Amino acid sequence: MVTDHLGGDYLRQALEDDVRAGLTSSPKRLPPKWFYDEAGSELFSRITRLTEYYPTRRELEILRRRAVDVAGLTRADTLVELGSGTSEKTVLLLDALANAGTLRAYTPVDVDAVTLAAAAERLAVRYPGLDVRPVRADFERHLALLPRNGRRLVAFLGGTIGNLPPAAREMFFKELRATLRPGDTLLLGADLVKEPSRLVRAYDDAQGVTAAFNRNVLHVLNRELDAGFEPEAFEHVALWDEDNEWIEMRLRATRPMEVPIRALGLTASFAEGEEMRTEISAKFRRQGVLDELSRAGFAVCRWYTDSAGDFALTLATVVSG
Ligand code: SAH
Ligand code: AVI
Repeated sequence: MVTDHLGGDYLRQALEDDVRAGLTSSPKRLPPKWFYDEAGSELFSRITRLTEYYPTRRELEILRRRAVDVAGLTRADTLVELGSGTSEKTVLLLDALANAGTLRAYTPVDVDAVTLAAAAERLAVRYPGLDVRPVRADFERHLALLPRNGRRLVAFLGGTIGNLPPAAREMFFKELRATLRPGDTLLLGADLVKEPSRLVRAYDDAQGVTAAFNRNVLHVLNRELDAGFEPEAFEHVALWDEDNEWIEMRLRATRPMEVPIRALGLTASFAEGEEMRTEISAKFRRQGVLDELSRAGFAVCRWYTDSAGDFALTLATVVSG
């Protein structure tokens, strides 16, 4: 039932390439997409329910108020959702499009096969008659392979766009724009710049769920690449980078370590206190979002925020030509 663009050797090769490049660079880094195996997706779901982690609740508030508006403006028959995860917030969009009488198909797109299949099954039951077509794919690589039928609304929620560095974001928006036709729309979730202490708390919660999510990438490497990380020997670090306006998550080695990555025939040496970057989570300002979208050929038609002004959803159309 799931269309899989990450099958065969693809995912394994991509992981090997990312880990080899990331662990031999200075400073060391790993891309955040490798957080999301089944355990990582479950930890992310727990994060969304934490008091400190406001983005999910804020975006939900916006969707509750604005989904009907979005449905009326887009009149989409096909909802394509990138990085869909559990698709929990998506029901608000699906309900609004169904009530508007336009909805025919839903295509959730994610790297995590288990979460994707479970969400697709749940939604197929909830919306009998809806053509649910889950696609396992990397939204940084496979946008051109996504279904092109119908009048599409592409939703990219949660602020996941902020997990891409600026150059990758630029490429992502251009590639996405190239796959869309006049009449298609983008609904983009973006977390906004705010008081740094609130931001840091959202990424360093008291219960340590985000710390476990961060360390999960080491469990993934141990399992998939026969690596020898001791996850508990790494401290979770979340800091606000004022210049770049992003939260940076890192893993800090608490002692010197020689870590074998056996499948790669590589040993990664960590000095005591050495930090490896595992994620950035960029926070946005209105003008920045508008500029990035317009450079890629989108025209913003609505900017919605929650009542506290913490999070934004931008509805954009494609500029023809
Ligand atoms: N949209 C949901 C989930 C956000 S978590 C929400 O707003 O709550 C980010 C999701 O994106 C995860 O489900 C993860 O598996 C997926 N993801 C991360 N990198 C990805 C990539 N490169 N391609 C496709 N999916 C990706
Ligand atoms: C998926 N993404 C938008 C989350 C974020 O807030 O950047 C991932 C996350 N990392 C730590 N907590 C949540």
